[in-house]
Amino acid sequence: MDAFARKFRPSTRKLGLTGRDLPRFRIYTSDQAHTSAEKAAIALGLGEENVCRVPSDNEFRMETSILRKTVVHDRESGFKPLAVVATVGTTSTASVDPVAEIARLCREEKMWLHIDGAYGGGFAIMPEYEWIAEGWSEADSIIINPHKTLFVPLDFSVLYVRDIERLRRVFTLVPEVLRADTIETEKNYMDYGIQLGRRFRALKAWMIWRAFGREGILALMREHLRLARLFGEWVGASDDFELSAPVSMGVICSVDPESVRGWHNRPTTKRNKGLILTIRALLAPFWIPVADAASPLLMVQPTGLALQSPGTGCGRQKAFGG
Ligand SMILES: Cc1ncc(COP(=O)(O)O)c(C=O)c1O
Repeated sequence: MDAFARKFRPSTRKLGLTGRDLPRFRIYTSDQAHTSAEKAAIALGLGEENVCRVPSDNEFRMETSILRKTVVHDRESGFKPLAVVATVGTTSTASVDPVAEIARLCREEKMWLHIDGAYGGGFAIMPEYEWIAEGWSEADSIIINPHKTLFVPLDFSVLYVRDIERLRRVFTLVPEVLRADTIETEKNYMDYGIQLGRRFRALKAWMIWRAFGREGILALMREHLRLARLFGEWVGASDDFELSAPVSMGVICSVDPESVRGWHNRPTTKRNKGLILTIRALLAPFWIPVADAASPLLMVQPTGLALQSPGTGCGRQKAFGG
């Protein structure tokens, strides 16, 4: 995004964003998206309040018609619509935003399209999940966290960018002491990001791929998804709980309809605590619960199990990494 801001005001790298006659940039994401969008806005100096949360539909996907209206309204009000963050696999419900539609709007409005596939992106390696990659070819950047669904231990995030040269123009700053090390033909990661020294993260990913193989990874993922669906079926068949979001990946959201009536009352807390303890006892070897016993809404992930309410969750635990 910094690269994009620079495209509009090429001297941003030298002069920064403050004390200058610049419009207020806006970033759009859904009300289900991860708070990393706000974190990025804070870090870039764009301001948390310039991240607009666009309402989602009843399947927790960004409402593109509202996005369009908000962008047009902001532009007419003097803001500069900068970027849209579309999520593939939201934190709380694993919903998938309509990326292809969002991409069309981004092209029309000349906005950067970032896809947050931190959780869900990894599923795209499965032929049966090809549908989630619809519209990705239009993205300016995509993030996938193999430490979430692809079994690589924390931390291992992969950033794909359409125009890597743009990143280099923003970040390359070679101190005299390193000049001799910078061989033009070689890709030096210090030229494409903030860090100079970095860990050898690729090694652990390589180890996982070597150990499991593509087929092994696919088999494990399919097993996790089978467990998720099975749990979803149990919830659907239960008299006490209902599914509160479609099961699209490894996340199951269930609601205790009785407790919705008295969100913070003692029986709710007691009931959820009871359920959490039962799940822990039954599934502890495979699944890790994160409990919010006061909430009537529960979220469950077989690759590490989390219990939380849709729309509020950010911290997930996984059996493999974070
Ligand atoms: C959809 C989504 N985006 C982003 C993040 C944050 O990822 P990271 O740990 O790489 O900051 C998460 C973490 O759970 C997530 O679920």
